[in-house]
Amino acid sequence: MEIVLLGSAGQVGVALGGALGCFARVTAYDRSTLDLSDTDAVVGALRAARPAVVVNAAAFTDVDRAESEEAMATRINGDIVGVLGEECRAIRAGLVHYSTDFVFDGKTSRPYREDDPTAPLGAYGRSKLAGETALALAGAPALVLRTAWVYSPGRRSFVASILRLARERESLRIVADQSGSPTFAGDLAMATALLIHGVRNDPFGAIDDARGVYHMAGGGVATRFDLATATIASDPRASEHRVKDVVPVPTSDYPLPAPRPAFAPLDCQKLQHRFGIALPPWRAALARALRQ
Ligand SMILES: NC(=O)c1ccc[n+]([C@@H]2O[C@H](COP(=O)([O-])OP(=O)(O)OC[C@H]3O[C@@H](n4cnc5c(N)ncnc54)[C@H](OP(=O)(O)O)[C@@H]3O)[C@@H](O)[C@H]2O)c1
Repeated sequence: MEIVLLGSAGQVGVALGGALGCFARVTAYDRSTLDLSDTDAVVGALRAARPAVVVNAAAFTDVDRAESEEAMATRINGDIVGVLGEECRAIRAGLVHYSTDFVFDGKTSRPYREDDPTAPLGAYGRSKLAGETALALAGAPALVLRTAWVYSPGRRSFVASILRLARERESLRIVADQSGSPTFAGDLAMATALLIHGVRNDPFGAIDDARGVYHMAGGGVATRFDLATATIASDPRASEHRVKDVVPVPTSDYPLPAPRPAFAPLDCQKLQHRFGIALPPWRAALARALRQ
């Protein structure tokens, strides 16, 4: 099977390269080899490769910068995603695309399901929702995998920041009033690869048949404070820590350009029912990730 992977140098893209490479020939593009803002180049690359599946892990992901650069965020996360969807239908390729919990406003009391109303609080969420909408309007043969709180210990992520800060400071102040679904990038990539492997006999037909939004995130619910304390407790190199206490604080103590949803864990049952795939519980995943 031929797969085109976009965003191969990103956190999820790097993990996908290994997982997809176990069963497919992967043509991988990072920003230096294919800039998603160049529509003609994107279309040309897909037509040349004629893949069975396109996996789009590229995105404008800087949530705070998106507030001041919404036009570019919308171009990469919205407009070009619609082009990918149309082009995938034209070349009869299935598209696997990632979206985010930031399409929700976080004003709920139970984990979000796929058909819950969206109401992004900021520019990043609006731009990612624009991508979802473009795919839906185009009737694209696309699986939109909404994920959340993605981390890898060795990459720029919340968990990596906690590991660094635990070595630098004696006291950490961590937001305790934001809840979500921590997701290990390695597990997200594995689950994506399992999904695509499962449709390998007819990728276009199966993806077109199942097209729509699916939540794919680590199991369970955590606050930022929970994730920080679990990271510190599970760090196999705890002897290097300076940190002595972790203090829960409200979001209002950390004003940032972009507002974050307060409670946006993702209910992933639809993915499990349709594809038999569920990511492991977040605490077990975190402990495993920290041992890699
Ligand atoms: N990280 C999270 O917590 C999280 C949560 C929910 C959903 N998601 C979604 O998951 C997917 C993967 O995210 P990630 O964590 O792997 O993010 P990431 O590490 O920022 O990777 C995104 C990649 O896209 C590339 N990119 C940005 N603009 C581009 C352009 N114009 N042309 C080509 N490549 C471009 C980036 O390159 P540069 O590094 O050069 O900019 C980067 O390598 C995204 O769709 C994201 O929205 C992530």
